[in-house]
Amino acid sequence: MRSFLSLASFFAAGALASHLGPTSDDWRDYQWSYYPENTADELKELGLPLPEIAAPITTVHEHDNYVVKLECLGCPFRVREYGVRGEHWQENPQDNSLLFNFSIAEDKHSLLVNGRQIYPLALPAKIYSFQVPANLSANVMHKMVDMRMMDSSWMVGTQYGSFEISFEHTTMMTNERLVQLLQFDITHAEIRGENPGVALLNQPKQKLIQLKLSHENIQEGLKIKSIELVEQGEKMTHAIMPCGKEAPRFTQVFRFTEWDYYGHIGTLKWTWNKTIGETGDWISDHSFLLAALAIVLIVLKRRINQRRKAKRAIDDPEAALLIVEDDEEAAPEPVQDEQQAEPKLEEVVFAEKMLDEAAPVVESKKEEGEAETTVSDESKPSLLN
Ligand SMILES: *[C@@H]1O[C@H](CO)[C@@H](O)[C@H](O)[C@H]1NC(C)=O
Ligand SMILES: *[C@@H]1O[C@H](CO)[C@@H](O)[C@H](O)[C@H]1NC(C)=O
Ligand SMILES: *[C@@H]1O[C@H](CO)[C@@H](O)[C@H](O)[C@H]1NC(C)=O
Repeated sequence: MRSFLSLASFFAAGALASHLGPTSDDWRDYQWSYYPENTADELKELGLPLPEIAAPITTVHEHDNYVVKLECLGCPFRVREYGVRGEHWQENPQDNSLLFNFSIAEDKHSLLVNGRQIYPLALPAKIYSFQVPANLSANVMHKMVDMRMMDSSWMVGTQYGSFEISFEHTTMMTNERLVQLLQFDITHAEIRGENPGVALLNQPKQKLIQLKLSHENIQEGLKIKSIELVEQGEKMTHAIMPCGKEAPRFTQVFRFTEWDYYGHIGTLKWTWNKTIGETGDWISDHSFLLAALAIVLIVLKRRINQRRKAKRAIDDPEAALLIVEDDEEAAPEPVQDEQQAEPKLEEVVFAEKMLDEAAPVVESKKEEGEAETTVSDESKPSLLN
C-alpha cells in the first residue's frame, strides 16, 4: 500500500514537472522543430494518409490561453534549413501563417501576446511571431503548445522564421457590462539585418483577431470571453453601451521598427532619453579619465588658493586677514570647512613640532645642568687638587 502511494506521488510529480519545468531534455523530442513535415506527395509515396491541418484557433485553457494561427495573405516565406547558415526567401512563397499566443497574465488583470502585454496596452509591445506553413499539421501544433514554443523560455533553434510585429489596436465598450472588445490587427511582419524583408498584411480578405475581454468578476480577474478571426469588412465598428450611448473607440498604432532602445524614434522623449543615455554612457566609458581630471583640478585649485593667500599676506598683512575673513563668510560650507581645517591642521602639526623640538631641548639642558654639576663636582676636587 505504502509503495503504491509513493509510486502514485512520483507520477503526479512527473506530470507536474512536464507542465512547469523544461519540456524535454531529449533532443529527439524537438525533431519536429528542425525538420519540415512530409509533403502531400511524400506521404502518398509512403502510402500514408494526409494529416489533419491545425485549426486557426487552438484552445489551450478556456478563457485563459489560446494559440492563433493567422494566415498571412500574400506574405513572403522565409526558409530556414537544418544545417544551412542564413535564411532565404522562398521564390514562389507557399501559403503561410503567423503564430500568436494569447494568454491572461499571472496578475489576472492583463492580456499578453507572445509574452508582451497588449491589454491594457503597454508600449513598446515588441512582439515576435513565428511564421509557419499555412497547412501546419494539428500534430505539430500540439507539440508547439505542449513544449511552449511561444514562451520566453523556448531556446531551441527552429525551422520557423521569426518576425517583428506591427499592429493596430482598437478597444471599445460593448453593450455587455464590464465587457470590452479588442481588435488586434497585424499590419506588418518584418525582419531587419541580413537579408531583410517586410510583409504587409493589407489585403482585403486579411483577417484580424477580435476578442471580447470580460472583467465581470473581480476575484477571477480578466477573462477571454471570446476570440475569433474576422475580415476587415466583418469586424465590429460600433457598439451601443448599456446606457444607450454609442461606445467610443480607442485606436493605437504600434510600428515595431519606429522604436529603439531609447523609445519612439523622433519624439521629444526619445531625443531626451538618447541624449541622457549617451551622455551617461560617455561618462561611464571615461570615468577613469574624469576622476583623474577632477583630482588634477582640486590640486590646482588648492595651489592657486595657497599662492593667493601668500601673496596677500606679503602685500598687506592686515588687508589679507580681512579678505580671508570675507572669503570664509561667502564660501559654501564644504570649502569653509576645508579652509578652516587646513590652518588648524597646520597649527597642530606646528604645535607638535614645537613640543617635539622643545622636549629634547629641556632634557638636554637638564642633562647639561647635571653634567655641569657633576663636572663642577668633579672639577671641584680637580680644582682642589
Ligand atoms: C503543405 O503545403 C506545401 C506547400 O504548398 C505542400 O508542398 C505540401 O504538400 C502540403 N502538405 C500537405 C500535407 O498537404
Ligand atoms: C503562452 O504564454 C504564456 C505566458 O507567457 C506561457 O506561460 C505559455 O507557456 C505560452 N504558450 C506557449 C505555447 O508558448
Ligand atoms: C526613457 O524614459 C523613460 C521615462 O521617461 C524611462 O522609463 C526609460 O527607462 C528611458 N529609457 C532609457 C533607455 O533611458
